[in-house]
Amino acid sequence: MKLFLDTANLDDIKKYAAQGLVDGVTTNPSLVAKEGVDFKKRVIEITKVVKGPVSAEVTSEDAKEMIKQGKDIAKWAKNVYVKLPMTPDGLVACQTLSKEGIRVNMTLIFSAAQALLAAKAGAAFVSPFIGRIDDMGQSGMELVEEIVQIYNNYGFETEILVASVRSPRQVALSAMLGADICTMPAAIYDKLVKHPLTDKGLEAFAADAKKFK
Ligand code: E4P
Repeated sequence: MKLFLDTANLDDIKKYAAQGLVDGVTTNPSLVAKEGVDFKKRVIEITKVVKGPVSAEVTSEDAKEMIKQGKDIAKWAKNVYVKLPMTPDGLVACQTLSKEGIRVNMTLIFSAAQALLAAKAGAAFVSPFIGRIDDMGQSGMELVEEIVQIYNNYGFETEILVASVRSPRQVALSAMLGADICTMPAAIYDKLVKHPLTDKGLEAFAADAKKFK
C-alpha cells in the first residue's frame, strides 16, 4: 500500500520525504489556506519534492469551470492529480478530464454508491473520508471494505485512497483490506514508526550494551 502525506506544509513534506517512504501528497483548499501561501506556487513546490502523485483541488462547483481549472492544474507538473468533489458536476468533469488523460481524484466520498460512480466516471483515485464517517458514529473502515469488494467484483482500475485518517491503526486496517493508498497528516505518519515497547526494548539493549567487556 502506498503512503501519502495529507498536508500542504512544505517543511513536513521535505522532512518525511527525506525518509524515503512517502509515495505522494494530497492537499485540499483547507490545508492550503492553513499555510497562508499561493495555491499554485505551493502545489508546484510540492511536486518538486515528491515524485509521486500530488493532488490539487479545483475551487469551482460548476462542471465547465471545473474542467477549465482541471486542465490548467494538470499543466502545473507531470505528477499532478486533479481533485474534484463528488457532485453531479464533479462526475461530468471527471469523465471529460479522464478521457483527455488527466488523472482525477474524486474526493469527499462518504458512500459505496458514490465510489461506484467515481469509478464508472473514470477516476484514477477515489477518496473515502473515513475519519469524518467515524466522527458521525458510523464506520469508515466498513466503507473501505465495501469499496474494495465493489471494485474487485467489476475489475475497476480506480485506486482506493483512504483519506481523513486519524490513527496508525486505521492505516494498518486499510492495508489489511487491500486499499491502494492511505493519506495521513504528518502527525499520524510520525506515529506509524512508534511503539512504547520499541522504546523500552531499545533502552534496555542500550543499557546492557554498556556492560560489554
Ligand atoms: C484527503 O484528501 C483530505 O484532504 C483529508 O484526508 C481530509 O481529512 P480531514 O477529515 O482530517 O480534514
